[in-house]
Amino acid sequence: MLTGSEPPRIAVLISGRGSNLQAIIQAIAAGRLHAEIGLVLANRAEAGGLQHARASGLPTEVLPHGNFPDRESFDRAIAEALIAARIELVCLAGFMRRVGPALLDHFRRPILNIHPSLLPAFPGMNAQRQAVTHGVKVSGVTVHLVTPELDDGPIVLQRAAPVLDTDTEQTLADRLLAVEHEVYPEAIHLVLHRKWRLVGRRVEFSDPPLR
Ligand code: GRF
Repeated sequence: MLTGSEPPRIAVLISGRGSNLQAIIQAIAAGRLHAEIGLVLANRAEAGGLQHARASGLPTEVLPHGNFPDRESFDRAIAEALIAARIELVCLAGFMRRVGPALLDHFRRPILNIHPSLLPAFPGMNAQRQAVTHGVKVSGVTVHLVTPELDDGPIVLQRAAPVLDTDTEQTLADRLLAVEHEVYPEAIHLVLHRKWRLVGRRVEFSDPPLR
């Protein structure tokens, strides 16, 4: 169990069921991730993950993207909510809106995303279907820093998982989701508590760990 310093405040942005949000909540409760969720933000009031957040007593906010005239004003509203909640790191967890330059320019702290493939293979939608269709024998999970390019930012952590000949899109998605739930809290902890820097597009962690 990690103790001591005040936990850094993170936000989790969701659009749907929120199983990664739940994994993050559990990792914090188990002491595997030293952080406090200061905001769960959804772009859809029906996002199932909002129920997990409320059940855990976390602050939530809904910003329906359709209420904004354009992406820039939506991005600015997100940035303002993050800044008001004193957020130090953002985790996109099934957040189905592109993050634009207005958010990155306003909120000048790291934003992470998790993607169910070994990027740069299979970016975009339906990564698991793309992997099965392509016939790869190995796929996996990537946590990366968010840039304006979709699924293209510097990679923080990746973990591989086998693709079986018998896999369907759903069975592969289920296997990868279990890996996501392990990897995302680990990656968040690394970014928050290890010293790192960007060298070109490579995230370099210095050893030994700072804490
Ligand atoms: C996950 O597969 C994640 O990698 C992708 O969207 C899905 C979100 O699932 N970006 P959940 O809402 O966290 O259950």
